[in-house]
Amino acid sequence: MCGITAYVGPRLCLPIVLDELKRLEYRGYDSAGVAAIEDGRVRVIKSVGKIKNLESLVDEANVQSTIGISHTRWATHGRPSTVNAHPHPDCKEEIAVVHNGIIENYMALKEWLISEGHRFRSETDTEVLAHLFEHFMKGNLEEAIREGLKKVHGSYAVAVVSSHFPEGIIVARKDSPLVVGVGEGEFYAASDIPALLPYTREVYLLEDGDMAVLTHDGVRLGRVNGSKVERSIYHVDWDLSAAEKGGYDHFMIKEIHEQPRTIRDTMRGRVTDDSKLNLSEIGLSAEQLNRFNRFYIVACGTAYHAGMVGKYFMEKHLRVPVEAALGSEFRYRDPIIDDKTLVIVVSQSGETADTLAALRDSKQKGATTLAVVNVVGSTIAREADHVLYTWAGPEICVASTKAYVTQLIALYLLGMHLATIKRTLSEPQIAEMVNAMRELPEKVEQHIAGQEEHIIEIARELCRHPAFFYLGRGMDWVTGMEGALKLKEIAYIYAEAFAAGELKHGPLALITGEVAVACVLTQSDLSDKMISNIKEVKAREGLILMVCREGDQNAASVADYMITIPSVTDAFMPVLAIIPLQLLAYYAAKELGCEIDQPRNLAKSVTVE
Ligand code: AGP
Repeated sequence: MCGITAYVGPRLCLPIVLDELKRLEYRGYDSAGVAAIEDGRVRVIKSVGKIKNLESLVDEANVQSTIGISHTRWATHGRPSTVNAHPHPDCKEEIAVVHNGIIENYMALKEWLISEGHRFRSETDTEVLAHLFEHFMKGNLEEAIREGLKKVHGSYAVAVVSSHFPEGIIVARKDSPLVVGVGEGEFYAASDIPALLPYTREVYLLEDGDMAVLTHDGVRLGRVNGSKVERSIYHVDWDLSAAEKGGYDHFMIKEIHEQPRTIRDTMRGRVTDDSKLNLSEIGLSAEQLNRFNRFYIVACGTAYHAGMVGKYFMEKHLRVPVEAALGSEFRYRDPIIDDKTLVIVVSQSGETADTLAALRDSKQKGATTLAVVNVVGSTIAREADHVLYTWAGPEICVASTKAYVTQLIALYLLGMHLATIKRTLSEPQIAEMVNAMRELPEKVEQHIAGQEEHIIEIARELCRHPAFFYLGRGMDWVTGMEGALKLKEIAYIYAEAFAAGELKHGPLALITGEVAVACVLTQSDLSDKMISNIKEVKAREGLILMVCREGDQNAASVADYMITIPSVTDAFMPVLAIIPLQLLAYYAAKELGCEIDQPRNLAKSVTVE
């Protein structure tokens, strides 16, 4: 869950690797460091805290080098500190390593290396790599790295500089993302593509087990096991401006406002002008799809919430069991999987360790796998049997907004496609749904334009309540879960979602005038039941913030505060209902002076278990 970058070329390397690193800060930001080759020797500079702290140290050091690597850290092994920050040197400070991933057998390796006389400085797992490479260094760094990596169990994307190889940088990956960029006489590496976009659009997407040697003369690709490999260059055709703030205060609010466009992008080419569906891109024939008698949707965090909505939608319309499961639980519970099972994994980053492990497990047990994923070329996208991209574009804020909404759209499309093939929905029913879906972008726009100022006021008034409950039934309950997650992660307010019918089985005891209760009421068949639950809360002085359809008089009659959303068919209401909850969390966090785009203790891409 860290970010790494590397540069070899004619220019001074440190300003470039730091600039690249800033675009990776979302991956971790508790400490950072650089290493460079200067006059044939390794120079390492590191600091605790954000990259700007490191930047001033680098300025002072005035290192004259054209070969360098950098790292931004999200602590796993060892607390955030300068000594635990990367790069990690070997005993003689002749090798420096940056690493993203986890070395699972580092304790055993460390003990062995200590018995061989190596001196460790940090508490990290990464440091064993520097000493391993030192141990195997018999004149050829590339060979030493190969030998060292053979001993390692776990995941890594590594970049190494060394006085043994002052001509360049060696990088390698296994189960952690790494791309190599090719410019005009300059060469780069980074954990993901946006970091490289100001410099080049030509990249190699390294596969697990790949290694690359970057020198002033070019990039040489190979495998860690010593065999040869050829990879073709991928041309990145998306724009960097898409990954910048575009005039907004934070990426989060920019990404919330982008949602009408991203919904259109997710639908583009998949719904036709005559209201039909086209999902041939997933490459599953009607015959294959008809064979599946069990579906799992596996994901983590926000993506799991999208999966829960997908479950409600698919189960209702396919009439087959569909289970939404957490990636972190799924692989440890021995789920029932066979060759008639379709496992759908949902992930924005395509790198989430638990989701990836669930995908691998499912494949091994004979399931067919389909990834609903945002990042092109990500590990999940590459390893799944079939892929449906969500096309949300780069999502920079740690709190997921536009990725969620596009995951919902992708799962609806998939559900409708399956229902067409299984003939559980008729052509006119599908056409009606497609038409309703087409109205969503405009309705989201309309809602934001009409209610944003009102939500800012509500956020100001309510943000100092110590606790928020979110109530809903059916899909509204799921919307509540996602709303609560947003408030927790960026405003640091205690927030919990409850299935409204469960209230009187316990949580009702917590209701006092101190608690703000956001009630999501969009599912028409559950409206009366929900109103009764809200009355139970009101009777205990709970303060009601209602999120309901425009013109819902019943809902209005029990509300202390009210946010209205345009109407669409029940199934698609989660797309509209989450927007005010995203805005509420954003403006509450802003009012409270929280950092928003990079909340404490969190990272965008959770690539460790
Ligand atoms: C939500 O705002 C979080 N950033 C988090 O829950 C996220 O959805 C989760 O870590 C899964 O990430 P993924 O979609 O990249 O797999």
